[in-house]
Amino acid sequence: MWERFRAHLTETDSPRDLTGPSVRVRRLELDDAPRILELLDDPEVSRFFLWEPPHDLMEAEQYVQGFLQEIEQRSAYHFAVMDSASDELLGVANLYHIDARAGEAEIGIWLGREYWGQGVQQEVNRLLLRLGFEALQLRRILFLVATGNRRAQAAFRKLGAAEHGRTMLRSQRQQRRVEHLVYRLEVAQWQALDHRWSVPGLKSRRV
Ligand SMILES: CC(C)(COP(=O)(O)OP(=O)(O)OC[C@H]1O[C@@H](n2cnc3c(N)ncnc32)[C@H](O)[C@@H]1OP(=O)(O)O)[C@@H](O)C(=O)NCCC(=O)NCCS
Repeated sequence: MWERFRAHLTETDSPRDLTGPSVRVRRLELDDAPRILELLDDPEVSRFFLWEPPHDLMEAEQYVQGFLQEIEQRSAYHFAVMDSASDELLGVANLYHIDARAGEAEIGIWLGREYWGQGVQQEVNRLLLRLGFEALQLRRILFLVATGNRRAQAAFRKLGAAEHGRTMLRSQRQQRRVEHLVYRLEVAQWQALDHRWSVPGLKSRRV
């Protein structure tokens, strides 16, 4: 498993773009920092973050740099979510905490407030699920969601993920541990659901 994962990552200098009907995800770049700062200015977006959102351009660049390092170390995929028509950055999505031995990884996502409720989340997560299940051949993908984050919980349930226990995560921001629900999607469940997700124009290529 680990060999396959490394082979996939070393084939590509950087994670490839993944394209859906209306959005694509591409490797984050340092130049994305100003737009990320702008979108994270809304406290509703960062309300459940475990880390303090960036307050200035330098902090936004540090946020991106941290992700770029993990991409370089080939330990995670961190993507900018782009609107295909306008080429505007809508948010950030991550396939990370990849545990090749266990065949698991986690998905993280945030979108600018004005892009909620428009199907962007579903489209992006389908792309990341395909990356995880098809290209990396993972066995399961997890979403860890704060117990109070009802909107994200509903969003991940719509993807077919089911609640599978709770865990306490350290909040750097609040200096305490915060209870999170663990949502889990197994590869077999995802395969059974996939027919529901065939969207005209969605390229079903291996990534
Ligand atoms: C999480 C996030 C990516 C989800 O994207 P989204 O576009 O808002 O999600 P969707 O609209 O596809 O799904 C949300 C669902 O929750 C429902 N919902 C909204 N508020 C709710 C609430 N308080 N309780 C229960 N359900 C709620 C919506 O009605 C929607 O369901 P529907 O499509 O059946 O109407 C986005 O809200 C976001 O970026 N949030 C801030 C960052 C964040 O919390 N990230 C997740 C960290 S784990």
